[in-house]
Amino acid sequence: MCGIVGYVGPRQASDVLLGGLARLEYRGYDSAGAAIMSEDELVVVRRVGKLVNLREAIAGKPVPGTVGIGHTRWATHGAPNEENAHPHVDCSGKIAVVHNGIIENYMELREELAANGHVLRSETDTETVAHLVESYYEGDLTAAVIKTVRRLTGAYALAIVHLEDPGTIVAARVDSPLIIGIGDGENIVASDIPAVLEFTREVLVLEDGDVATVTANGVSVVDAAGRPADSEMMHIEWDLAAAEKGGYEDFMLKEIHEQPRAIRETLRGRMDATGKMQLSELQMTEAQLAAVERVFIVACGTSYHAAVVAKSLIEQWARIPVEVEVSSEFRYGNPIVGEDTLVVAITQSGETTDTLAAVREARRRGAKVFAITNVVGSRVTRETDGVIYTHAGPEIGVAATKTFTAQIAALTVLALKLAQANGMLDQKRVEALWEELSHIPEIVEAILADANDIAECAAEYKDANSSLFLGRGMGVPVAMEGALKLKEISYIHAEAYAAGEMKHGPIALITSEVPVVVVATQGHTYEKVVSNIQEVRARGARVIAVATHGDQDIQRHAEHVLYIPAVSEALSAIPATVPMQLLSYHIAKLRGCNVDQPRNLAKSVTVE
Ligand code: AGP
Repeated sequence: MCGIVGYVGPRQASDVLLGGLARLEYRGYDSAGAAIMSEDELVVVRRVGKLVNLREAIAGKPVPGTVGIGHTRWATHGAPNEENAHPHVDCSGKIAVVHNGIIENYMELREELAANGHVLRSETDTETVAHLVESYYEGDLTAAVIKTVRRLTGAYALAIVHLEDPGTIVAARVDSPLIIGIGDGENIVASDIPAVLEFTREVLVLEDGDVATVTANGVSVVDAAGRPADSEMMHIEWDLAAAEKGGYEDFMLKEIHEQPRAIRETLRGRMDATGKMQLSELQMTEAQLAAVERVFIVACGTSYHAAVVAKSLIEQWARIPVEVEVSSEFRYGNPIVGEDTLVVAITQSGETTDTLAAVREARRRGAKVFAITNVVGSRVTRETDGVIYTHAGPEIGVAATKTFTAQIAALTVLALKLAQANGMLDQKRVEALWEELSHIPEIVEAILADANDIAECAAEYKDANSSLFLGRGMGVPVAMEGALKLKEISYIHAEAYAAGEMKHGPIALITSEVPVVVVATQGHTYEKVVSNIQEVRARGARVIAVATHGDQDIQRHAEHVLYIPAVSEALSAIPATVPMQLLSYHIAKLRGCNVDQPRNLAKSVTVE
């Protein structure tokens, strides 16, 4: 999630850009830059690292001018360095572009542009936009941008300037937020509201396909067909802190609600037009993938729970044995891995010490290791043979939420890829599973839209001292993640168990004071789960069941039922997790806990 700010008006653009980018800092970034119309030239300044590096560069060599665009980059394509930092320019240096999103067809555009003599210098998808605008520019920047965006596939929020049109910024968006703060004799383009609040509370929201022409005295918007668009104006009441959280009370709640987008972005482009799963980052041939006979997944915490989901998917679909182990045990456990083993390291931060050590141990033993991470350029990306990125955007809340469901999305793609490569799933089955997976974001949206009863449910259990989370099959890692969420943000002790295992001891814990949360969604072991619910109910337990819409019978067995839409058992982990996240969130809030920064926890555990 990069930060975009564009300014046109009477003020010094550098002040507005730096101030606005600072208010987007929570979006995370690894480099920053600005392009300012300064006297008769377009001055571009870019720095890797924190925004302060850009601020110091401009302070050291001021760039006067009242029109400009700025950017903080959360790398998706290309390492976080100055060459890849935005803004990117065309061959002439007269056009500058900042971008948030992912352009899926950038490689073919790069080839076309290079064949036409354009010289592209960065590894980014964004740079292709600057050169496309150059190739279409005939004196009208808006017209050139309209032609350009019609060539783009993927997600983009763009702000573009041209030295020959010095008082204008052209902005465009598809699947990536972009707003315009409407001031008095000044206007501000931004990827999010906090960047404009210092100057105005009147905000114009661009819709997908819109192209806006922004000058100091006005904004005109056309839709994808070039017709005038009736854009929505909003008056923003939020203060700055609320705006950074998108109006949500906490980053964790905001990030729970960002999951549909995080999953959608992670899945974007993962099946090509021929029905083939795309995982080129593994740098493995189809034959090599088909020859994989053993997988070992290492991770910690929530990422370990994603590993357990992946084990089930890969073993069910690709029929390849998968071992999973927490990194801290793997690294000292004399693990049996070698050249015949495909090792996967799951780490959203890419910096977890135990997982990095596990990676080194696996590679020392000759295994091919690749990472699944959310942070481009993180240490794990530099120590593995390949990387699959989740595109969840920076996760501010210490408790993992959107990065977990994005990890599952990426791992589901991996399982489909392995099963497609070794022929264990035929093409029709792969396409059917991909189709259902592609609709998981909508299912999560439906759950989030109908979650009011979860807060009520939380009120009944906020004073518990201990709880049990049960599930079978795919419900086991979901129960594990639900228990961890409750533990880490509400400080209530919670244990997860395979429901069938509960009678082998844990049932001794059951009293009316120990709420039991059960994943009771439709699946081949549903009746067994109901039996387990009856066992704990017989001992006085109060049960919260996560169940499938339409299942009326479950209401006879549970005090509370948190419903999710029907979904295949194999794909049920993401939907079933969302009610658990919300339950833990509301219980923690009712207990007065700091859900974004729980006690004793760090977002990235960089110690043993
Ligand atoms: C999860 O909510 C916790 N924040 C923690 O368990 C986390 O998942 C674990 O430390 C692993 O982090 P990583 O994915 O960045 O490696």
